Amino acid sequence: MSDAGKLRLGVNIDHVATVRNARGGAYPDPVRAAKLAEAAGADGITAHLREDRRHISDADIDGLMAALKGPLNFEMAATDEMQKIALRHKPHAVCIVPEKREERTTEGGLEVAREENRLAHFIAPLREAGCRVSIFIAADKRQIEAAHRIGAEVIELHTGAYCDAHAEGHFEERDRELDSLREMSAFAQSLGLEVHAGHGLTYDTVKPVAAFPEVMELNIGHFLIGESIFRGLGPAIEEMRRLMDEARGDTLRSAG
Ligand code: PXP
Repeated sequence: MSDAGKLRLGVNIDHVATVRNARGGAYPDPVRAAKLAEAAGADGITAHLREDRRHISDADIDGLMAALKGPLNFEMAATDEMQKIALRHKPHAVCIVPEKREERTTEGGLEVAREENRLAHFIAPLREAGCRVSIFIAADKRQIEAAHRIGAEVIELHTGAYCDAHAEGHFEERDRELDSLREMSAFAQSLGLEVHAGHGLTYDTVKPVAAFPEVMELNIGHFLIGESIFRGLGPAIEEMRRLMDEARGDTLRSAG
């Protein structure tokens, strides 16, 4: 398969830091995990510096910027503090996510449509600094149109509702979520946006999303870090890569 048609895998290493922080020391080191992930076939590394620093720390971002061979996708909330940090590091990509302190994980997509003006001003300096700006949103036409209007180059579609419905055995709802993701991937691409997807993906849920020809990148974290307890980080990533390539290969075959 040529690289142009290849679906990229971004490995999110936040939860290596979660385990480290459970004991307050330096082990396990997320930068070491990121290097291992690159060696196992990750096309990029994703890290979310949360406002409360519950997992990734500022020093981790310094370490990742210094150590990575490939691109860093820096996830952050749209705050002045985070904008300053991003402008200091100038990572390859900045993914803007909503953040609520009381949430366990990033629960929903960003409300772009309601905050269009502020977000347009917020992302402009990041784009000028050369970062690819991605907006994490639900598969919702209004939000996609707003992301396009504010000048984002990339959207990342939130796959959490699809994955949750699958895990809970609500298969009709899961299939409806998948239909929306499919339809909205095509719609976003028709506007000229690059489409990424992620949140909650596992070996059981990755293939239908990987099969969408418009999706260029998947960002996957929690499941891979969990699975690495059982089979090691490298093999856990290699298996995800294999499933993604299999799904993509099927798409290319049916198109050609
Ligand atoms: N993409 C975005 C924008 C996220 O916020 C997260 C979670 O940090 C992920 C992908 C990865 O989600 P998960 O850890 O559930 O695979």
